[in-house]
Order: sequence, then C-alpha cells, then structure tokens
Amino acid sequence: MTTRYPGPIFEPRVFDHRIADSGLVTDAALAELLDRYPAELFDINLYDYDDAGQVSLRTGARGASSGADLLEAIQKGRLWVNLREVETGHPALWAEVMKAFDPIKASYPGLRPTTLSGQLILSSPKARVPYHFDPAGVVLFHMRGRKRLWVYPGDEAHLPERSMEQVVMRQTTEEIPYSQAFDADATVVDLEPGQALTWPLYAPHRVENLSAFCVSLSMDFQTWGSRFRNGALFTHGTMRARGFKPGATDQLSTPGLAARWAASVALKRTGMVKSRLMDFERSFEPDARSADGAGSLA
Ligand SMILES: [Fe+2]
Repeated sequence: MTTRYPGPIFEPRVFDHRIADSGLVTDAALAELLDRYPAELFDINLYDYDDAGQVSLRTGARGASSGADLLEAIQKGRLWVNLREVETGHPALWAEVMKAFDPIKASYPGLRPTTLSGQLILSSPKARVPYHFDPAGVVLFHMRGRKRLWVYPGDEAHLPERSMEQVVMRQTTEEIPYSQAFDADATVVDLEPGQALTWPLYAPHRVENLSAFCVSLSMDFQTWGSRFRNGALFTHGTMRARGFKPGATDQLSTPGLAARWAASVALKRTGMVKSRLMDFERSFEPDARSADGAGSLA
C-alpha cells in the first residue's frame, strides 16, 4: 500500500487482544463511566450522508442526562461518542490497553512512540465515520459489536498534501475529499471483538458499524517521524496562507523536515494561527426517545 509516511507499518494488520476480559466495557461499567467522565473530554457527533456518500456533521452537547440514558441513546440512535484522553480519564482501562499494545509494538522493531493517547468510542449500530486521516499512528482496539474498516493508500490522489496542511493547522475537522471510486483502492477489514487493527501512519480510512452497538478504543501515537512531518505540514500551511508556494513534504530529507518542525514550534508559540475547531456549534443533546438519538438542546 503506497502512503506518504508509513513509519514502520507498511500495511493494515490485525492483532488479538483481551481488553474486554477486564469487565471494564460492560453496559453497567459504561453507564457508570458516562456518569463520571469529564464533560470537556466528551465529543458527541451525528453524521448525515447523502447518496454520493458526502457527509455533514452535527455536534451534540453532553447535557444532563444520566450515564444509563446516554448509553441507551447511543445504543438506539445514530450517535458517535468519543471519550477523549482515556490515559487520564480512565487509568484502569488505559493499563489494559498498554498491556495489549506491548506485543503489537514488539512486532514493529522500528516503532518508538513518543506520546500515546486513547479515546474510547461508543457508537450506534448504524453509525459511520467519514473518510479521514489521523496525523498520527493508530491502533484500533475493538471490543464490542462488529465494524468494517476501509483503509486507503496515503498518496496524493487519496490524501492531498494541501488537505493534510489544513487538518494539521486545525482549520477543519479531519475530513478530506472523498469519492466512492476510492473504495476500489481500499483494503477492507471486518473487525470482531477481541481484534485490533493498525495501518500505515496517515493512511485515510473510514468506518461503518455492522448493525450492532460498538465499543472500541482508538489509541493514537506520535513518533519523531510523525512530529517532524506534522510540523513541516503546519509550517507549509502557514506559508501558503501568506501567499508562498511550498512544495510537498515528501520531497524533504530529515534535516529539512526537522527545520520546518522547529519553525512550527515557534509559529505555534506566537499564536498567530488560530484553531477554528472551537467554533463548531453544539446543536443537540442525546435523547434515547428520538429516532437518531439526538434530542433538542435543553
Ligand atoms: Fe481515524
């Protein structure tokens, strides 16, 4: 699979794990977790698709519903709920994830993560995640339900460098141009509980749940390679916004990437590039009584 920066991972690969044996992702455990998880670490999304597979996103507010009610709204509706920063929000679950990650990491001798972060994903039976890429490495630990993943090549046709710049500059959510014709180029994997999937760094992907409530933990990691690359993309995006025409980061050697990463650190310190992600307006609250799980804002 061709990709702009595979790191040590050259193709999608499935591993086994036993995280669910911990008992931490049963309905009872999840309802209790939803009751106490910090509201600022919640993302509640609802995606709508047209016939051409183009997506629009609505963002929900946590609201005052109980954990059990919120879980019911997810299980009945079309919601996609992320609990971010599991490494701080749920240390017991994170310990299980780290145990499960050990043999995966060991199977890639060149893989040396510098930072690791996890989000617990609770999603409705018919929920789908649109085509996107993560500017990071990812291991998706799947624990309940079944889901299908499409992993695409990370070349210019599927992952334009200018779109990467926009995502890394946080001027847009992590969505990039998608056409259904891309699907012919994808590797398709059906994930069962107890399986984990990883793929080349930056490879675009999308997800469809296969008619069951799904629980997964998405662990993302940075390496020095991805930090340099993200920094270079940020610097190039900033230059482009000021009328320059930087080339592709693929053409750069490590010193060239490192210099641009250093420039990005300085640019971020000035605060000149404002993230626009905070501006997304919350438009609903989860409600199990509504067909898609989205009720009106209180
Ligand atoms: Fe992703």
